[in-house]
Amino acid sequence: MKDILKGKLIHLAAVDPEEVSKSFAAWNRDTEYKRLLDTDPPRLHSTKSVKEWLEKELEKQSDTMHWFTIRAAADNQLLGDINLDVVGWNFRDAFVGLGIGPRDFWGKGYGTEAMQLALRYAFTELNLHRVTLTVFEYNPRAIRSYEKAGFRLEGRQRGAILREGKRWDVLYMGILREEWRQHHDHPN
Ligand SMILES: CC(C)(COP(=O)(O)OP(=O)(O)OC[C@H]1O[C@@H](n2cnc3c(N)ncnc32)[C@H](O)[C@@H]1OP(=O)(O)O)[C@@H](O)C(=O)NCCC(=O)NCCS
Repeated sequence: MKDILKGKLIHLAAVDPEEVSKSFAAWNRDTEYKRLLDTDPPRLHSTKSVKEWLEKELEKQSDTMHWFTIRAAADNQLLGDINLDVVGWNFRDAFVGLGIGPRDFWGKGYGTEAMQLALRYAFTELNLHRVTLTVFEYNPRAIRSYEKAGFRLEGRQRGAILREGKRWDVLYMGILREEWRQHHDHPN
């Protein structure tokens, strides 16, 4: 059996608050990055408070939360994080969210490959039926990346976000196990 957390460009690794909090705090100071990820007004946090928050979140984590850092295959550089949160074992669905922090690494396939690895983990280890995500209308790069990973548009919450004087939709996207299998030509 192969290492399912390893790809060509990146691999998925543990979240170590001590090690990652400085980078997470720095990325969160980039308000464009924050606004691609969250609807809340961006808030600035110190490295110390990010570390404490990560420790608390990891402590709270039960079997339902599967959270990884994204690291470059070439030199192990920390590039971001990806989180699969199983919302109900009874219906076998998980919400996924991810972010590549350094802008130099946007648009180069790192995020798409991280999503592909997370989907493989979701469907071959967690044995889920579907994976769901939300993405904002003003983030075409992410929408395209998710389409490449096999997600389909399932619905939209119209005008849910008000930013820079404009209303934007929140898009719901999903992928079913069967679609993933066909999309990636997997035998599992
Ligand atoms: C969103 C994210 C995960 C995507 O991963 P990625 O590795 O950058 O994506 P890729 O390089 O594989 O693909 C991006 C695609 O979007 C396309 N794209 C980029 N900018 C675009 C734009 N303005 N309009 C339309 N398409 C665009 C690219 O051409 C590429 O498609 P292609 O391969 O068919 O040419 C990553 O960019 C990221 O983390 N960004 C910052 C935070 C964020 O947005 N997180 C997601 C929140 S939902």
